[in-house]
Amino acid sequence: MSDTVLSVSRLSVSFGVKSAATKTVAKVVDGISFELNAGEVLGLVGESGCGKSITAAALMGLLPSPPALMVAEHILLGDKDLSALDESGLRQVRGSEISMIFQEPLTALDPVFKIGSQLSAVIRRHQGKDRKNAFTTAVEMLGRVGIADAARIMKSYPHQLSGGMRQRVMIAMAMACRPRVLLADEPTTALDVTTQAQVLARLADLGRDSDTAILLITHDLGVVAQACDRALVMYCGRIVEQAPVAELFANPAHPYTAGLLAAVPHVSREGVRPVCAIPGSVPHPAALPAGCHFADRCDRADNQCRAHVPRLQSLEESEIAQPHRHACFHPLPKAAM
Ligand SMILES: Nc1ncnc2c1ncn2[C@@H]1O[C@H](COP(=O)(O)OP(=O)(O)OP(=O)(O)O)[C@@H](O)[C@H]1O
Ligand code: SF4
Ligand SMILES: [Mg+2]
Repeated sequence: MSDTVLSVSRLSVSFGVKSAATKTVAKVVDGISFELNAGEVLGLVGESGCGKSITAAALMGLLPSPPALMVAEHILLGDKDLSALDESGLRQVRGSEISMIFQEPLTALDPVFKIGSQLSAVIRRHQGKDRKNAFTTAVEMLGRVGIADAARIMKSYPHQLSGGMRQRVMIAMAMACRPRVLLADEPTTALDVTTQAQVLARLADLGRDSDTAILLITHDLGVVAQACDRALVMYCGRIVEQAPVAELFANPAHPYTAGLLAAVPHVSREGVRPVCAIPGSVPHPAALPAGCHFADRCDRADNQCRAHVPRLQSLEESEIAQPHRHACFHPLPKAAM
């Protein structure tokens, strides 16, 4: 059996949305539950605005309330319920037990301090090392994320590094304390494809070496294919499908997942496969249709879909460790072999 490191149960996040005459509530994360296992890379994938970053911020306890209202049955990190911790309790686990990296590392790095002093400071704060040992560990970490000339990088300011280098530094910083969980929010979106591939490979290697579980947030199915073991597909704040990556790509059960896959451009020697975009657009979180939120864009929708909320259910009869689950009343049949 896999070792669950993070168990999220019925997490919801809402915002009040004011218009000229009314105030409505937008539920941007709607009762999601999932588990993250030691050493795995779990993808959280979905279109812009579906609630991926808000989910990560909620897990880190970084959502300002108000305006956000967060509720959860539990967010268990080992035996600690993060949803029940106050700010000082959260500060103790952030960085050391659960860590996060963001899309644009320039916003997370301090422009006036050299990389070496920022990285060493994190190591000293979380590992209680003296200046000299922290420096040695920092150089070692930079090497582990694939930075060959670590001594030079330690003496550089963030603006002197390329985007790929900065992102490697952020990964080193986040992983320096061997957190049990790393939330990586679009960590490679700003990078070119080759650098993206290298950074993702390092991230996955480090995660496996340190037994850190990674939640990798992305809108890019190519990233999921390359780096993830399992994936959760999110649409309008709900998880609509989850499966091991190979199974998800071979046999998508939810029409939204199938639509995302069909929308990926594919280039080969034979030419470019035409892309099929999902019709319509994502509804505003304050005006979601009742029942299945995907109904207005789905060619399989019927009255049941418009009236009732489909719950996540397993495709397989038997209880297996990593089941394929979908939230659809009329799932797609398994692809013919
Ligand atoms: N402070 C806020 N007040 C109201 N709504 C908000 C607030 N912050 C985020 N939202 C809404 O929450 C929804 C989810 O946002 P989130 O940033 O999680 O999306 P995302 O999936 O990360 O998208 P992207 O791929 O563009 O990063 C969006 O519709 C967004 O407009
Ligand atoms: S529940 Fe209905 S509307 Fe929703 S994805 Fe499935 S078939 Fe389409
Ligand atoms: Mg986001």
